[in-house]
Amino acid sequence: VNAMEEVVEEIRRLKREKNVIILSHFYMAPELQVKAQDGGIADFVGDSLGLSLAAKTADAAHIVFCGVKFMAETAKILNPAKQVWLPSYEAGCSLAESITGADVRQLKARYPGVPVVAYINTYAETKAEADICCTSRNAMDIARSFESDQLIFLPDVFMGRNLQTRIKAETGKELILWDGKCEVHEQFTPQRISGLKLVHPKAQVLVHWEVPDDAVAEALTGVGGVVGSTSDIIRFVGESSNREFILGSECDLGATLRGMYPEKNFIVPCIKCPHMKQITLQRTLHTLRAIGTDEEQNYRVSMEEELRLRALKPIERMLEFS
Ligand code: 13P
Ligand code: SF4
Repeated sequence: VNAMEEVVEEIRRLKREKNVIILSHFYMAPELQVKAQDGGIADFVGDSLGLSLAAKTADAAHIVFCGVKFMAETAKILNPAKQVWLPSYEAGCSLAESITGADVRQLKARYPGVPVVAYINTYAETKAEADICCTSRNAMDIARSFESDQLIFLPDVFMGRNLQTRIKAETGKELILWDGKCEVHEQFTPQRISGLKLVHPKAQVLVHWEVPDDAVAEALTGVGGVVGSTSDIIRFVGESSNREFILGSECDLGATLRGMYPEKNFIVPCIKCPHMKQITLQRTLHTLRAIGTDEEQNYRVSMEEELRLRALKPIERMLEFS
């Protein structure tokens, strides 16, 4: 038995003993994405919308979140009766950290009456100021649904520009943007995409909404591909008859895609999210061990009830919309 297998077994034992479920994002290291029914630790693996829905209906006493802080916070907002735990508080997000509640209040004062759509990659105090949340999976439909001529979309400037291009053409609606950026997806420049296309001319290109708009345009010309959420990317590969794909998203999603579609070939520039990678098997084990001891405070996700209720409203509006 190697060390990793022992850690997995110990996590599985503690899950049963302490009544814990584990939710794991598609950007986690591969060993954190193996499902419990296949001998791994994850009860649910998904994108940020899927994980929010799983958190809302989770019926174990404890949720250990293998994802980043804003995701674990969203789980707590949606299911406050459960104890939610995050294996590392270093698991931030450059988008969530780019904006505060005070920033949104200033924007609202500058653009009175303009609806505010907050990407799920924000902290509770930012969500609390928004009219509705969105994830990368439903952003386009939610932005389209507003009748107003203008919409404040925050905090991802590139995702905002990608949405703007499509929405303006359809409805003439103008998006007012913030200047947040995903430190992973901003690295997919047009030059990087065109270089990869030159080497792999038959490959379709898969890019997340958070990739810069000029790189998305480059990705979609020629053989083509898709711009979308993590789930859109996974679905597109499943439905495409193409055999080769260039991935413009987080590196470990490449491992997930290879596991799902072993007959297809993925070219994956390995750019890892340093926040997601804070979550390891070892830290997940420490978290499970800590539950019920004095150490548990290091991992607990909590927030004031007044803030939770204000942040809940725009998330619930999003879920009703979905
Ligand atoms: P998804 O909504 O596609 O899961 O994206 C989450 C994220 O952090 C993207 O960088
Ligand atoms: Fe945030 Fe980007 Fe990391 Fe996703 S990949 S958690 S958006 S920094």
